[in-house]
Amino acid sequence: MKQIVVLISGRGSNMEAIVRAGLPAKIAAVISNRAGAAGLEFAVQAGIPTRVVDEREFPSREAFETALAEAIDRHSPDLIALAGFMRVLGGDFVRRYSGRMLNIHPSLLPAFPGLHTHRRALQEGVKLHGCTVHFVTPQVDHGPIVAQAAVPVLSGDTEGTLAARVLRQEHRIYPLAVRWFVEGRLAVDNGLVRVEGAETEQSVLAGP
Ligand code: GRF
Repeated sequence: MKQIVVLISGRGSNMEAIVRAGLPAKIAAVISNRAGAAGLEFAVQAGIPTRVVDEREFPSREAFETALAEAIDRHSPDLIALAGFMRVLGGDFVRRYSGRMLNIHPSLLPAFPGLHTHRRALQEGVKLHGCTVHFVTPQVDHGPIVAQAAVPVLSGDTEGTLAARVLRQEHRIYPLAVRWFVEGRLAVDNGLVRVEGAETEQSVLAGP
């Protein structure tokens, strides 16, 4: 069975969605870069080994990433899923997990990489917004796109209402993308992701 390590920083609702999806894979560990991340509690209750590698305890990014890689590698994971992991990772770290690290980003990439995506979407007046699951590459929020879901931006939306609408879609497409990965259905060709099999159009449709 494929082994997955999930990295979180906070609430962990995407991690929870992946766990609850009942995928044909083992969630080997949930690792947080912040002590007290709320999501750790859910993982403990679900019987998943947890670990904190607190970035504030390390003198440099290199030292932190070395410790993080050690914590990950002890599980020999097939996949590392970044789920609300709010930390930019260095090129060496990213290359170590090339082709087996996914991230969820709350925008329709390549629009709005980086932070405050919902606020920026409202400021720009876009009519469609959404979320993206992508392979992680050294350029932040730019890797090959596995799945996207779009939602409308409605008049009267606030950052909060828009974020909530997008988050419902995150919880739908991230488990779907992880399922495709563990089923061995994803191929990356020249920076483009091909999904083997049917029903891949699910990835772009907003659900209820
Ligand atoms: C999500 O919107 C994710 O896309 C972004 O941060 C948020 C984390 O939420 N990177 P959670 O921790 O998964 O609940």
